[in-house]
Amino acid sequence: MEGGSGSGSGSPFKDDILKGKVALLTGGASGIGYEISLQFGKHGAAVALMGRRKSVIDGAVSSLRSLGIQAVGFQGDVRKQEDAKRVVESTVEHFGKLDILVNAAAGNFLVSPEDLSPNGFRTVLDIDSVGTFTMCHEALKYLKKGGPGRHSSSTGGMILNISATLHYTASWYQIHVSAAKAAVDSLTRTLALEWGTDYDIRVNGIAPGPIGDTTGLSKLAPKEINNKGSEYMPLYKVGEKWDIAMSALYLASDAG
Ligand code: HXC
Repeated sequence: MEGGSGSGSGSPFKDDILKGKVALLTGGASGIGYEISLQFGKHGAAVALMGRRKSVIDGAVSSLRSLGIQAVGFQGDVRKQEDAKRVVESTVEHFGKLDILVNAAAGNFLVSPEDLSPNGFRTVLDIDSVGTFTMCHEALKYLKKGGPGRHSSSTGGMILNISATLHYTASWYQIHVSAAKAAVDSLTRTLALEWGTDYDIRVNGIAPGPIGDTTGLSKLAPKEINNKGSEYMPLYKVGEKWDIAMSALYLASDAG
C-alpha cells in the first residue's frame, strides 16, 4: 500500500473513503457482487451480503473477515418480500444503520424465445426487476434522510443497481434478461428522480458489458467465443470485475 491509497490492489482511491458506511449487497457473495463487497470492505465499509446459497455466503463472509473486513451474511431470496424485509432489518440490527444498498442479484440462462416458458420469463423478471424494487422498497425507511440510524447524517443514503447493456439494442437468447434489465434501468431513473427529490437518496446504475470470470459470462459465452469476441473489443479484452467495483466505489463515496 502506498500513499494511503490502493488497499493493496492498485485502487486509485484512499483506503478510508467508505469508512463508517454500512452497505447491503444482494448477490454480494459471488461474481461482480462479491468484488464490490470486497472493495467496499477494503475501503472501510461494513458489508452485509444477501444470497440464496448459505454455503456461498458463509465462504464469502469468512474470506472478507480474514482480510479484517466487518462482514455478515444473511440467507434470503430477493423474490420474497419477507426475506427482503428480514435481511434489511437484520443488517440495521447488526450494524446500526444502512447507508448503501447494492442490487446485484440476477438470474440468467441462454434460451430462444420459443423455448422459454412464460414462467421462465417471469422468473428472471422476478429476480432482477421485482427483486430490485422490493429491496429498494424495504430499504427506503433506513436510507431516507433522517431515517433510523441516520440521525447524525445530514444526507440520505445511496442505491446502486447493477444492470447490463443487452437491451440497448437486441441480443440473441436473452429476451427475458433484456426485458428485466430494461425495467431495472427504468426503476433507477424513476427512483433517482422521486427519492432524490423527496428523501435525498442518490440512486445510480452501472451497466457492465461482458465481464470476465463471472457466472454470467461463462454461461452466456463459451470460452472460444469469448476469446474471439475480445478481438472486437476496443481494448482487446473483456471487462474485469475490478473495473465495476471501482465504479461502484466512486459512486458510493462522497465524491459520487
Ligand atoms: C430454459 C429455464 C432454464 C433454462 C430455468 N428455466 N432454467 N428455461 N432454459 N436454462 C425455467 C424453468 O423451466 C422454469 O419454468 C423457470 O425458469 C424457473 O426455473 P427454476 O429452476 O424453478 O428457477 P430457480 O430455481 O428459481 O432458478 C432461477 C434461475 C437460477 C434464474 C434459473 O438458476 C439462477 O438465477 N441462476 C444463476 C444466476 C446467474 O446466472 N447469475 C449471473 C447473472 S448474469 P417452467 O415453465 O418450466 O416452470 C447477468 C448478466 C447479464 O445477469 C449480462 C451479461 C453480458
